[in-house]
Amino acid sequence: MGLIFFLLIIAGLSVYIFFTNKKDVLVDMPSQNALYKNPKKTVDARVEDLLKRMTLKEKVGQMTLIEKKSISEEGDIPLYGIGGLLSGAGANPENNSPEGWFEMVSGFTEASKQSRLGIPILYGVDAVHGHTNVVGATIFPHAIGLGATGNADLVYKIARATAREIKATGVSWSFSPNLDLPQDIRWGRTYEAFGDDPVLAGTLGAAYVKGLEEVEDSKDKNDEEKVFILSTLKHYIGLGGMRWGTATNPEYRIDQGVTESSEELLRSVYLPPFREAVEAGAGSVMIGLNTWGDTKLAAQRYLVTDVLKGELGFDGIVVSDWYGVYEIPGSEYGASVIAINAGIDMVMVPFEYKSFTNNVISAVSRGDISMARIDDSVRRILRAKFRLGLFDESPTFDASVVGSKEHRTLAREAVSESLVLLKNEAEVLPLRDDVKHIRVAGSAADNIGQQSGAWTIEWQGVDGNWFPGTSILTGIKEIAGSDVRVEYSSDGVFENDLEYADVGIAVVGESPYAEGVGDRESPKLSAVDLAAIERLRWVSKKVVVILISGRPLIVGDALLNWDAVVAAWLPGSEGAGVADVLFGKKPFVGTLPLPWPARVRQVPITPDGRTQDGSNPLFPRYFGLTTD
Ligand code: BGC
Repeated sequence: MGLIFFLLIIAGLSVYIFFTNKKDVLVDMPSQNALYKNPKKTVDARVEDLLKRMTLKEKVGQMTLIEKKSISEEGDIPLYGIGGLLSGAGANPENNSPEGWFEMVSGFTEASKQSRLGIPILYGVDAVHGHTNVVGATIFPHAIGLGATGNADLVYKIARATAREIKATGVSWSFSPNLDLPQDIRWGRTYEAFGDDPVLAGTLGAAYVKGLEEVEDSKDKNDEEKVFILSTLKHYIGLGGMRWGTATNPEYRIDQGVTESSEELLRSVYLPPFREAVEAGAGSVMIGLNTWGDTKLAAQRYLVTDVLKGELGFDGIVVSDWYGVYEIPGSEYGASVIAINAGIDMVMVPFEYKSFTNNVISAVSRGDISMARIDDSVRRILRAKFRLGLFDESPTFDASVVGSKEHRTLAREAVSESLVLLKNEAEVLPLRDDVKHIRVAGSAADNIGQQSGAWTIEWQGVDGNWFPGTSILTGIKEIAGSDVRVEYSSDGVFENDLEYADVGIAVVGESPYAEGVGDRESPKLSAVDLAAIERLRWVSKKVVVILISGRPLIVGDALLNWDAVVAAWLPGSEGAGVADVLFGKKPFVGTLPLPWPARVRQVPITPDGRTQDGSNPLFPRYFGLTTD
């Protein structure tokens, strides 16, 4: 009886330890002399030393990436050994300032270091056009504008500046650059990509990766292994080729839909930019929320493990996108098993970390996921953390970096280079010295929020001029100088309407949108903007239309009435870069990074430039007039 009782106690204790995962506490804390803590050792030696000390629960914790708002108690970060946290767009600290960010991220980092092995978290943000969740950051043009510059050196510098702003707030990981290839302007994410040309996306993507990751001042032999900020190539693979009406999210029309593409097309068009950016040293790759064939990308072992990790030799972290693993049909347990076996290393859960970690731990215990698969993922994650120096250095706050004058000057330059001149009747542009009276109208003329687009402070962007930057109107006034009369009316109604201005400048376009929220049946100007342009025409000798948009807009015959048209994309916080070119201080040099359709019937336009109805687009890819 006594023996049975004793055995029952032992069995009960084992079950308790297994299910509560309290067994970690039974494992000794490593000493300060542990090899993995020694910065003089190679990254690989440190990874192996740390890996062999880890329990299964600690390993699975490392594979867990959660939205910071999901943490029920800060103590859960060390308790679960959480590997990474992210701020989903708009998940900002209450004090949304560079200091506020630094304090928030440092707090989470310190919490992670309280775990038994002291493994720091990765902290990820969508710094897709600057470190733009942060009020005060430099907001660069969205990627489509950078595509219009075609300038890899400029893109490198922008990524570098963004990386400095990221680092200054204690963040280590950016979910950029975007290598999608939008074929259909109805897609709400068109502007996040450099364009639809795989060669352009590969060249600019590789430059962006280097700008984020390269460490400048090498001091010792191990420095070549170091990484400044971890980049993310997204979204692997086939994004931009989804068919209208196939979205899996019921609120969307095309985003997260089905990519209808042969494997040959996937390989010849969509894969090359990833290959180039992987070769440039990208530290992570995010798997898309789309479907290929009838399978979600996060479940595609062939594409993730065989092609990306195998053929491309990618040795960084494969991370799933927001809730992407659970979009694989079946139970959460089953979906996690499929995704991890497909090759996902870090799962952007992003909410319920307790059930996720329990599921994966029991999947390993049951043999549904092998220990070798887990170890492969954890090696990749730890390698990134060592390379980033997270074990060795504590970040320091530098108030002078975020939104610095130097970075804003660079952004202004980028805006100028990104402008594409589509029409210039009678060479109205650049504006001549005899232009003494200008009228400005349009919804986007005096709105830094609108000209910055989404992924700016909030996921869906913001409205107005309440954060640092220069609106296009302010830029025009600044460059025009005091001897030019500049009048402004958003709706184009001016008091003295019997008098003609020398030139009317209409700054019109889309209101911010992100992801599927921006899917539109026919992207075009609003009736309000069209009316403002018309009114401006009545009171100006010539009219220049500046389009602020995340994609080509269907403009129809209205174009015939406008003397000059400029595609300015989503320029960001430095609106004066537009005025620099209008007034001829800099030339128009930008070209279209994707074809501009004349009508919706033409889309999607295939990678080799064919429209659906066989007619020519309004402007082909790489069109752009110059004023050099
Ligand atoms: C987007 C990703 C983004 C992630 C994290 C997802 O909805 O598809 O591009 O990196 O959210 O914010």
